[in-house]
Amino acid sequence: MKKPNVLSNIKSWKGVHSSIFVLGSLAVLIGTVATFSKFYTFRSLLTSDSFCSYFNHETGVKITVETVVRKIQKEMEEMRDFPTESASSTSLSLVLRYGAFLADIVGLLESVQANPDEIRDIHHPLSMPKQRSDEPADFFLVEEIRKYVKIKPNRLKKQNFMGANGTFTSIGHACFAMKEELEKYMDYDIGEVCDDDWKLAQWLMIHGCDPLPRRRCFSRAPQWYTKPYPIDESMWKLPEDKNVRWSQYRCKSFKCLAANATGKGFFKCANCFNLTHHEMPRWVRPVYIYPGSNLTADFLIPEVLDIKPGEIRVGLDFSTSTGTFAARMREFNVTIVTATINLGAPFSESIALRGLVPLYLTINQRLPFFDNTLDLIHTTRFLDGWIDFVLLDFVLYDWDRVLRPGGLLWIDSFFCLKEDLDDYLEAFKQIRYKRHKWIVVPKLDKDDREVFFSAVLEKPSRPF
Ligand SMILES: *[C@@H]1O[C@H](CO)[C@@H](O)[C@H](O)[C@H]1NC(C)=O
Ligand SMILES: *[C@@H]1O[C@H](CO)[C@@H](O)[C@H](O)[C@H]1NC(C)=O
Ligand SMILES: *[C@@H]1O[C@H](CO)[C@@H](O)[C@H](O)[C@H]1NC(C)=O
Ligand SMILES: *[C@@H]1O[C@H](CO)[C@@H](O)[C@H](O)[C@H]1NC(C)=O
Ligand SMILES: *[C@@H]1O[C@H](CO)[C@@H](O)[C@H](O)[C@H]1NC(C)=O
Repeated sequence: MKKPNVLSNIKSWKGVHSSIFVLGSLAVLIGTVATFSKFYTFRSLLTSDSFCSYFNHETGVKITVETVVRKIQKEMEEMRDFPTESASSTSLSLVLRYGAFLADIVGLLESVQANPDEIRDIHHPLSMPKQRSDEPADFFLVEEIRKYVKIKPNRLKKQNFMGANGTFTSIGHACFAMKEELEKYMDYDIGEVCDDDWKLAQWLMIHGCDPLPRRRCFSRAPQWYTKPYPIDESMWKLPEDKNVRWSQYRCKSFKCLAANATGKGFFKCANCFNLTHHEMPRWVRPVYIYPGSNLTADFLIPEVLDIKPGEIRVGLDFSTSTGTFAARMREFNVTIVTATINLGAPFSESIALRGLVPLYLTINQRLPFFDNTLDLIHTTRFLDGWIDFVLLDFVLYDWDRVLRPGGLLWIDSFFCLKEDLDDYLEAFKQIRYKRHKWIVVPKLDKDDREVFFSAVLEKPSRPF
């Protein structure tokens, strides 16, 4: 398939031989555009819903569009065949622009041609009568974004069993504020390998462009990917370095991460890659953070599971984590998926390489679970004293939504400034859960200004 903006392909042409050719091409181009505008303005090509009102005969449009496409394609082929040695740089750049322009027009025409139905009668079911149904298609210039957000009518023109006449793909509203970045993200050659740009994708997601559009290029894989360790080894062994793409990280190996050498980036999980020492005892042996004190904000997995013996089977860990909670829970026959993003370290890959399920999810997103389904939500080192109270509220209500009646919410070592504690506790109280465990302990490392809070709470049934 052709990428609509083929500037990069054209760049690889070696040039053309004379400026006479350029002038000639421009004349042809002006001719083409003039022919076009007899039928419809260029704008009407873009905003397709007025398109057909110019014609009564669909076939007439089709034939004209086909002819135009053929003419432009022929023109482009001729450009490509020109001898290239003696072109001056001005004429070369003119030709490049001209070629890119032609390619764009062909892309637009082909998208119109591909789906005449789209133009005619698919409207978003919820849009007001005169309102545009697919504004993103007008706002963004990169053809791939426009194609993505356009309503895709069902083939055979039938409603599907859910009563929808088409498929309605969407992008986050914040994408509009990051037009330039999103267009960069969506500028690729269809069917080719994508840029190494997961960091751009994550940046977009964190800033609210979430969900991101899908892409039609192949994401990059680690060059020397080797199979993961077998499941009986993978849980407690640092994965192979070559199974991760390290280009965007300060550390270039798991050993570096485990040695706590990255500095900032994921300070809350600075020791998470030290599986043998730091991670191994968590939630199965009491860990006293301060030597010489028996203070701890940790609960142990067995004591939490004993609240509801045999009832806790599936759950979510929303934490900055390498998956250790899920790894431990697995030993208790509880299936946990771990939601985390790659903030400063390859957390998602690490979790998967350990043999666990990573959920790549930002705090911006509604959880992808149905109401009243999970037995447990565990969270640590993620929602802490940085979080806005209103945001915390929305998050807690969403967690409540997916927890089943009688499900457990395990707030694990939430920390905040002492003076904020009451306000945060208020937020946790107002969901009116039954308290099984509830403790506040001083956090001694920051001049005694912070506190830890941990709790295990049970969602009440609400039979109304
Ligand atoms: C969907 O198609 C049906 C006919 O198949 C039509 O009656 C209905 O109005 C259409 N709905 C929308 C929202 O376009
Ligand atoms: C993990 O931490 C322990 C103690 O802090 C240290 O001795 C060990 O070398 C660390 N492991 C790795 C892989 O860095
Ligand atoms: C790891 O780094 C953090 C933050 O830089 C520091 O507080 C912690 O003591 C370090 N841990 C080890 C074992 O060096
Ligand atoms: C912790 O230590 C204090 C004294 O150092 C003691 O009074 C208290 O009972 C201990 N608590 C636990 C849970 O062991
Ligand atoms: C988990 O399940 C296995 C197989 O069903 C069983 O042998 C084992 O005792 C279970 N472990 C726990 C902690 O319940």
